[in-house]
Amino acid sequence: MEIPISNFVPACSLEELRAKGRLVIRGAHNPILVVWDGQCIFALDNRCPHMGFPLDRGSIEDGILTCHWHHARFDLASGCTFDLWADDVPTCPVEVRDSEVWVKPTLGHADPGRQWRRRLHDGLAHNLGLVMAKAVYGELASGVPAAEVAGHVALFGAVNRDGWGLGLTILTALANLLPVLGEEETYLALFHGARRVAVDCVGQAPRQERAPLSSRPDLATIKRWLRRWTAVRHREAAERTVLTAIAAKSSPAELADLLLAAETDRAFADTGHSLDFINKAFECLELIGWEHARAVLPTVVAQMVAARGAEESTTWRQPMDLAALCQQTAIDLPGLFAAGRNEDRWSDHAALAHKLLGDDPIAITEDLKSAVRAGASPADLGRSLSYAAALRVARFGNANEHADWETAHHVFTYTNAVHQMTKRIGSTDPDHHAEAARGILHGAMALFLARYLNVPPARIPGDGDDSLEDLPADADALRAALLDAFDRQRQVDLAARLVARHLTLGHPTHPLIATLTWALLREDAGFHAYQMLEAGVRQFGEWGNAAQGGHILIAVARYLAAHSPTERAVLQTADIARRLMHGGDLHVEVATGV
Ligand code: FES
Repeated sequence: MEIPISNFVPACSLEELRAKGRLVIRGAHNPILVVWDGQCIFALDNRCPHMGFPLDRGSIEDGILTCHWHHARFDLASGCTFDLWADDVPTCPVEVRDSEVWVKPTLGHADPGRQWRRRLHDGLAHNLGLVMAKAVYGELASGVPAAEVAGHVALFGAVNRDGWGLGLTILTALANLLPVLGEEETYLALFHGARRVAVDCVGQAPRQERAPLSSRPDLATIKRWLRRWTAVRHREAAERTVLTAIAAKSSPAELADLLLAAETDRAFADTGHSLDFINKAFECLELIGWEHARAVLPTVVAQMVAARGAEESTTWRQPMDLAALCQQTAIDLPGLFAAGRNEDRWSDHAALAHKLLGDDPIAITEDLKSAVRAGASPADLGRSLSYAAALRVARFGNANEHADWETAHHVFTYTNAVHQMTKRIGSTDPDHHAEAARGILHGAMALFLARYLNVPPARIPGDGDDSLEDLPADADALRAALLDAFDRQRQVDLAARLVARHLTLGHPTHPLIATLTWALLREDAGFHAYQMLEAGVRQFGEWGNAAQGGHILIAVARYLAAHSPTERAVLQTADIARRLMHGGDLHVEVATGV
């Protein structure tokens, strides 16, 4: 029976339903199961919300419907599940009129955006992958902007865990890429982000809110205090100090300066992650709005105060005391920045980057000082340093141990974070340049220590006699070959050459970035891969399709290729959710092997 309208329509006779116990009728979109349960009649979507298998094969007892396939149980009256991983099954109203059963075959929700928001919250709270995937899909299909979905997930993560974590970093990195993503990639990106935030939060104690001080000290005092509390690892005091700066309506630039000063009192803390998380918290607020600063920004304080600085490690102290070298150089910086203020705009970013790849730390600091003297700002230095760090990855020798990729990655994402923070602080108060620039010095030393990763260096594709002519010329064919390379292990050099070929031929870069993003999103990627892609795309934006921009995307491709393929379980869950939301018959596809 076809039921094409949303009003009540006759479904069957009461006598027939009593005799058969259950009947399946065709709704406008989904089949509807009508059930006689001894005393009552119920109607619900016949497709199990878990994987879409038909519920009419299930068993009914004591008002509970148990799905035949994976035994999820549902309250017949409401459709609510007793097994959260399965999700609730939509129901529809039923009436008996003159011994006829009438059904209103509308399974939708009056406010689908709100309904899916509630389900996303449930999925996040209980770490239910399929529920989150369906909810993200449902929100987007209901017209909820992707950035709003990301914001909801971010705020969930900020309050349901005691501190910033990997999940919020991944979510923010992917949310930064939303403007270049298509519909399918947007869905996948938000699902990845939500999933990782949920993993971080499950079983964790929620964050306890703290209050700002009721006084309003000036910013210089707040900055002094935050550095003091960070040095002695006094988390409560540091959080209240940050909250006080927020309550005083400090600008994002002032807050960035405040946190960067305290953070860089230690060098390259927690292998750069601490500063990277601070930068990501700022980016998160730029995405979801600074009115959430009080909820988001203090989440980075716990790691900041607890982090171990590189100056505590032997490698930074022997054979040369790099920590002392940074401290000594930082003393000279205020005067150099003051002198550089009178110079013309400095633009030797690429040349400085190559000097930063040298093997003499004293010469490296002298090169940085010369650039400052010539007018380079901290943000200029950050741009050069980030490019140099990307070159470390682009030239990562295949003879290294696989784990060494992470050493190269840490330096690159740290330098990108320093660059973004120095850009955020800007040049409104040059007196603060010296403190901010300590992050540059620390990044330069981390880059120096990672120099062995380029011994011998991998060749940049297209250099020398590598003509790339053996590769396709067509853009679509190149991107297909790139995805094919990511399907196989140990295709680092091929992936790099395909990216170089794409760029050298002048094909549009946007589809290439979309392909790299898709290559990441289809994998069960590790935390660092998300950071690598996002930092690479951001740094590529600094240079565009010049040689330097190409080197940065080559670095991204090489890193991703070194970590692909994976099992792609997340992609499968996302695909199941998408097909369920589309009304696809998964059980038919499974049975026929489609
Ligand atoms: S429990 Fe119903 S399809 Fe899995």
